[in-house]
Amino acid sequence: MIKKNIIFYIGICILLFNSCTKEQLSSCSTNKRLADCLDFYCGNVVDLDRMDSIPEYASIVTEQFNSVTAENIMKPNALHPTRNVFDWEEADQLASFCQASNKRLHGHTLIWHKQLPPWMYAFQGTKSEWEEMMRDHIFRIVDHFKGKVTSWDVINEAFEEDGTMRNTIWLKNIGPSYIEKAFQYAHEADPDAILFYNDYNIVLNPIKRKAILDLCIQLKAKGVPIHGIGIQMHIFNGFPENNDISKAMDEIWNQDFIIHISELDVSINVNGTEMPVAPEKDLDIQAEKYLYIFKAYDRIPNAYKFGITIWGVGDRDTWIRYSSNRDDYPLLFDDEYQPKKAFCTLISEL
Ligand code: XIL
Repeated sequence: MIKKNIIFYIGICILLFNSCTKEQLSSCSTNKRLADCLDFYCGNVVDLDRMDSIPEYASIVTEQFNSVTAENIMKPNALHPTRNVFDWEEADQLASFCQASNKRLHGHTLIWHKQLPPWMYAFQGTKSEWEEMMRDHIFRIVDHFKGKVTSWDVINEAFEEDGTMRNTIWLKNIGPSYIEKAFQYAHEADPDAILFYNDYNIVLNPIKRKAILDLCIQLKAKGVPIHGIGIQMHIFNGFPENNDISKAMDEIWNQDFIIHISELDVSINVNGTEMPVAPEKDLDIQAEKYLYIFKAYDRIPNAYKFGITIWGVGDRDTWIRYSSNRDDYPLLFDDEYQPKKAFCTLISEL
């Protein structure tokens, strides 16, 4: 009997020792909540299938963040599959999760040139029929989520790199005024919603930034309800330069626009070389880049801080691997959902 107890006791010790060793070896503990280290909202994109099937993923989303953006299920093709049918099911589930877990839900996205339903690309009509179609699309969606969604990316990626407006179905059929109309329709549906223009390369490309900012300034001066600019911030270890990140943010809030760092990821493989594991030195640089962004964002006046949203939970979830077809490790958690240097640096330095 005693012998049995001793064996049992040793077994427990081995177990405990192992878990301690593991704890010591892992770079840091996730007991500290990232959102609690910050004076602004910090979110992630959520994929409901992963929430249901990967417990580590679900616990990171639930514990570390206080804001959520849908990665795909609130895009036009998901919410508005045919002309007269809206499909709320999955997005409603996400909204319920956010309500139950006290998280802010950011709506992404109402008007874009990608991930539209086929019927929208094929739509035929006069300018006023197009306006009516766009109004119905925006109004019904924003109205449905009123009180559950705090904010919307009303327009996503409307500019080209040379500063001209992208030749989307919206521009072709309605003309440049589609942008202000979209904001007005969204505001009519939910006057309390915070409305954003969202785009990429805003820091990297000063021509594009100026074009976006000029339009937003002009629209705001006309009374169009445009409240903020979403800087997607899909960036790299090496660029944009840190100073340019701060400078771009300053330019935006100085013009009285709220800033959402809306889709942050920091790629470590700009050349797309084969990279079966992430090199330590690149992960160190990545950690410094994340830290710089969080600190630079923290320095802008509170009234202009909407929050930072990371575009993915574990590296295995990143859109970069399948959309750019390269090995990459751009997020705060690794393929096994263990915290990376970047996460540990944020929670220890912020
Ligand atoms: C991406 C999603 O992450 C992918 O899952 C999807 O296949 C394509 O879209 N800019 C945006 C986001 O505004 O909606 C994109 O999300 C990434 C680039």
